[in-house]
Amino acid sequence: MNVAIVGGTGKEGKGMAARWARAGHRVTIGSRDAERARVAAAAIAGEAGVAIEGADNRTAVADAEVVVLSVPYAAHRSTLEGLREALEGRVLVDITVPLKPPKVRQVQLPEGQAAALEAQALLGDRVAVVAALHHVSSVHLADLEHAIECDVLVCSDHAEALAKVVALVADLGVRALDAGPLANAVALESLTPVLLHLNKRYKSAGTGITFTGL
Ligand SMILES: NC(=O)c1ccc[n+]([C@@H]2O[C@H](COP(=O)([O-])OP(=O)(O)OC[C@H]3O[C@@H](n4cnc5c(N)ncnc54)[C@H](OP(=O)(O)O)[C@@H]3O)[C@@H](O)[C@H]2O)c1
Repeated sequence: MNVAIVGGTGKEGKGMAARWARAGHRVTIGSRDAERARVAAAAIAGEAGVAIEGADNRTAVADAEVVVLSVPYAAHRSTLEGLREALEGRVLVDITVPLKPPKVRQVQLPEGQAAALEAQALLGDRVAVVAALHHVSSVHLADLEHAIECDVLVCSDHAEALAKVVALVADLGVRALDAGPLANAVALESLTPVLLHLNKRYKSAGTGITFTGL
């Protein structure tokens, strides 16, 4: 699959890019700055022993079947507004957690209840928004030789896109689970501040979740 990661120069994006490229996907790292994207792509490709491209966000999106949005919540709306037309007809995987620093260990619902719901409302039905990957630490993604013991919940109102993203997420080396409609992104996004609290309380770099009984 052809995957673009908007904001792929960041902590979460780099590990995803390396893991998906190793799984055989064609990955483009996107950035506001094309040169920064190319430098990051070359560094990740060198470390992971795979081919990864880098481009400005708009160019990266233009060539992709699936676009992953991996920017801080403060940049969520402006980034989507800038890419709205380029995203038409594509699947958008929104991994954004609506954290509001400095209280990142406390649930704070955004105005639209969830970042992914805000994305779907902003982009309209021509874009299939899928929410996922809120509970996998960048520390685990970046350690390519390490199997990630973490379930990933995936939700969307677009059944075909949801199935596609469940398969794509599984290629990161995690168990991906269909978590229902996009409204459930409120619960998914809200759990991350709790995980960040657990990280601090129990001195962990990357608390995750696994479900029993499945
Ligand atoms: N880190 C984690 O462990 C983790 C886990 C689960 C979910 N998430 C979520 O994943 C998303 C990305 O997390 P991250 O830790 O990778 O974030 P990050 O490293 O802070 O930022 C990712 C990228 O976003 C771009 N960016 C930063 N500020 C921006 C702005 N004002 N406008 C446009 N683009 C901007 C930057 O790319 P350029 O400067 O190259 O454009 C940056 O490299 C967040 O929404 C976070 O909540 C993170």
